[in-house]
Amino acid sequence: MPKLGVNIDHIATLRQARREFEPDPIAAAKICEEAGCDSIVAHLREDRRHINDSDIKRLRKVIKTRFNLEMSINKGIVDIACEIGPDQATLVPERREEITTEGGLDVVKNTAAIKNAVSRLQKSGIEVSLFIPADKKQIDASIKTGATIIEFHTGCFANARSFSAKGRELYRIKNMAKYALSQGLIVNAGHGLKYDNVKAIAKIPGMYELNIGHSIISKAVFVGLHKAVKDMLNLIK
Ligand code: PXP
Repeated sequence: MPKLGVNIDHIATLRQARREFEPDPIAAAKICEEAGCDSIVAHLREDRRHINDSDIKRLRKVIKTRFNLEMSINKGIVDIACEIGPDQATLVPERREEITTEGGLDVVKNTAAIKNAVSRLQKSGIEVSLFIPADKKQIDASIKTGATIIEFHTGCFANARSFSAKGRELYRIKNMAKYALSQGLIVNAGHGLKYDNVKAIAKIPGMYELNIGHSIISKAVFVGLHKAVKDMLNLIK
């Protein structure tokens, strides 16, 4: 059964709507852990639109499972990560004008810069994952950076309109997971995963962890965070 990492960015998004103190993402992390998740994911964006520097310091202190810090390869952000010491860093592309992380990293084009960030983070004792499209060239380039974990961007699968397009995306992710596993990588997946599409991805042999944010936090508004996390865990099981 794949593990579940809960992305709590959108708890902070709601807080930032008023620039006040609630809801507190640290309190949310504790509830997610009590409900049985395996890691907490938070993205320290360069524009600090949701999670901020104080949040990640406090998260580092309270997280009992694993702290997976999502981040770009910006030097200042890498400096902060090395200082805070999350258990894992997931490197993602970042554009200020985007609403969410729109695609995976182009590791083929940016191998040297990504390798440099991977190496700095690993020297600080942080495991590194690369958020990439399910593509063989990107997997091969990821290996060259020294990263030991990859996370497939499942947006193309989640957003596919037709049944056949969804099937094609799923097939591609399955095949690429098999290839990456054969190369010794740990394979995760995330983005756009919801209660009604998570099972297909959870069933992929060897899938290690699914990182899910928006759908869990959206459901939590109506049923509470503890139940929203538990329901997702039950589906993954
Ligand atoms: N994994 C990564 C690397 C992401 O960037 C995101 C989005 O922040 C997620 C998982 C979670 O995506 P969603 O909020 O669509 O579940």
